[in-house]
Amino acid sequence: MVNQKKSDNMGSCLESIVCTSCKKQYDPIERHGLCPSCEKVLFAKYDLEKARENLTPKHIEGNRCFNIWRFNEIMPVKEPRYRYSLGEGWTPLLHLKNAGKKMGLKNLLLKDEGQNPTGTFKSRGLCAAVSKGCELGIQEFVIPTAGNAGAALSAYASCAGVHAHVFMPEDTPSLLKNEVLAMGGDLELVPGLITDSAITCKKVAVENDWFDVSTLKEPYRVEGKKTMAFELVEQLNWTVPDVIIYPTGGGTGIVGMWKAFDELETIGLIGSKRPRMVTVQSSGCAPICRAFEQGKKSASFWEDAKTIAPGLRVPAAVGDYLILKALYESEGTAVTVDDSEMLLAMKTLARQEGIMQAPEGAATYSGVQQLKDSGFVDSSESIVLFGTGSGLVYPEIWTPKRKI
Ligand SMILES: Cc1ncc(COP(=O)(O)O)c(C=O)c1O
Repeated sequence: MVNQKKSDNMGSCLESIVCTSCKKQYDPIERHGLCPSCEKVLFAKYDLEKARENLTPKHIEGNRCFNIWRFNEIMPVKEPRYRYSLGEGWTPLLHLKNAGKKMGLKNLLLKDEGQNPTGTFKSRGLCAAVSKGCELGIQEFVIPTAGNAGAALSAYASCAGVHAHVFMPEDTPSLLKNEVLAMGGDLELVPGLITDSAITCKKVAVENDWFDVSTLKEPYRVEGKKTMAFELVEQLNWTVPDVIIYPTGGGTGIVGMWKAFDELETIGLIGSKRPRMVTVQSSGCAPICRAFEQGKKSASFWEDAKTIAPGLRVPAAVGDYLILKALYESEGTAVTVDDSEMLLAMKTLARQEGIMQAPEGAATYSGVQQLKDSGFVDSSESIVLFGTGSGLVYPEIWTPKRKI
């Protein structure tokens, strides 16, 4: 549970739940999944004029907590007692001096999300979803996962005293299976990819009336993820970087940050400048990159998805249209990287910077190399890589046999 200084504690200014496509509005005191009318993604909407009164740099930099509830006015949980925390968020923004110098980039930064409680940025979203779910009286949560989100759900379910039901591909690395079991989650292994786990998950969620916290299929996980943007601008003294590079699977992070920038501008904490948003995917599973190249507004299913990065092995994303919107509106781009490039990037970050990243996070480093070569970024720009997970969550990748 989180302590906020009393004078800071205006509480959540959550106003309604609104569809990102048909714009229908819903009552925030009810439980929501996808939009009942058009089956698209729902977002939380806040009274930003009211939030503005409390969210000044002076107030924020005062005696506030250093976790995802730091900006509680624009988070969805109303009652402070439901704001669970394991210390997620407020991760360091590291200057990649050595690796950046080699590449000719003076301001290459990495937001090290590997320092979150479950070793990945998934802690943020699942902290928000479990906390809000508990406030709505939910006891049973269910998730399809490439591994890390299942571990995070299990952690926050334990912390809140509720139940996690986790469906993951049977070939998920064993540490992630063990993490779920260690934290008391019910684990079901499903043949195939995360999309197959999602089909089973949807069925059991309906049969048992469990709360389905699949990526972007409810409006609260994305609220936890958007806190990455809040922290980033605060760490950059209330400015935005020129470029953000994000390893994209289901896309909650990129979608959440894009939403956060609008909220921050309306509140007056940043101006109208936006970072150019860049998606990085594996060349073995790149539905968003393909759609971006073709100028499409949504992505088609990627057949035969294969990559060493489990979090990027996502052949279809329910929020595809929102990810693409962020790329187009920000004048960003999308790049693919091979598994061998991800492995090399893991090695480079470890040996030159002392940072062990998961392949997903390391993919952003391979991505920025490509963008430097193509002239999309230049040497003086501030570029933030999202290092979404610790290298320690995939120990088998570092075995000497692989010669990383
Ligand atoms: C370490 C890591 N990075 C990136 C991703 C992709 O995240 P998103 O679904 O927000 O695109 C995942 C998803 O499982 C992940 O575990």
